[in-house]
Amino acid sequence: MKVRKAVIPAAGLGTRVLPATKSMPKEMLTIVDKPAIQYIVEEAVNSGITDILIITNRGKGIIEDHFDRSPELEQRLIEANKKEVAEEVASISKLANIFFIRQKETKGLGHAVNCARNFVGNEPFAVLYGDDVIIGDDPACGQLIRAYEKYGKAVVGIKAVPEDAIGKYSSLKVGQLEDNVFSVTDMIEKPRTKAEILSLYSILGRCVLTPDIFDILDNTKPGAGGEIQLTDAMKTLATTVGMTGVDFTGKRYDMGDKLGILQATVEIALRNPVLGESFRCYLKELSKTL
Ligand code: UTP
Repeated sequence: MKVRKAVIPAAGLGTRVLPATKSMPKEMLTIVDKPAIQYIVEEAVNSGITDILIITNRGKGIIEDHFDRSPELEQRLIEANKKEVAEEVASISKLANIFFIRQKETKGLGHAVNCARNFVGNEPFAVLYGDDVIIGDDPACGQLIRAYEKYGKAVVGIKAVPEDAIGKYSSLKVGQLEDNVFSVTDMIEKPRTKAEILSLYSILGRCVLTPDIFDILDNTKPGAGGEIQLTDAMKTLATTVGMTGVDFTGKRYDMGDKLGILQATVEIALRNPVLGESFRCYLKELSKTL
């Protein structure tokens, strides 16, 4: 079955990015000239997704506003002869069929994904974490969808992380299938001891899930941090029917982390067709003073 739906959980508290995220959702933090979540929606659309559910919560209404029309602004831009900007602003609302639902309590990523049950129905669906921006020529979500179509199992996007950092992530038991494609047969969220580490491969930012995940989530007890962890539910899939892991191409930026936000800003600005060259000159001059 074709993957045409995606879920973007964006209801976290963003405590690692305070005070910026006190009233501003981290998913709306700007990278050069677009909010992070727009890059993520564009990745989904470029991967063939037509319907997107964004999971929000109280105080995240500006995410909805961003993907809505803005007739007064568009009209004003047209009157000021800024037709191109007007078209760019209007095009944001036409990227996909975008739906919203509120996660009424912040009980974890697994709980957030479980809010998507009615939207998803009985289809496979992609999950794009709202604070992970991935930039690359081949959209990461699309790479996972291709692996789903080839192997018929739920897929996780994976990357190797340094050993001293794995305790902040998940750790996966993997077996190689192709160059960058693996079978995933077990996983653990935030391993606490060396013995718990299954490999240095961790789930980062993207997955394609099958609808059986919802019944599993219903029975998943709070895990690490007292939250309902998506990894704990995916572990059931991995250990029973098995999953596929794709070490995706593309650079991932963690918008839930202050250093990640700075890296995203600098590197994406350097690729910007309008600003890139002057920003590069500025950085070169600045670096001489460092
Ligand atoms: P994170 O664990 O990175 O988000 O979740 P957080 O809870 O905001 O992080 P802290 O407070 O800085 O540690 C990954 C993604 O899942 C969403 C977040 O918005 C983020 O995009 N999420 C997390 C939810 O939608 N609901 C939740 O209950 C938790």
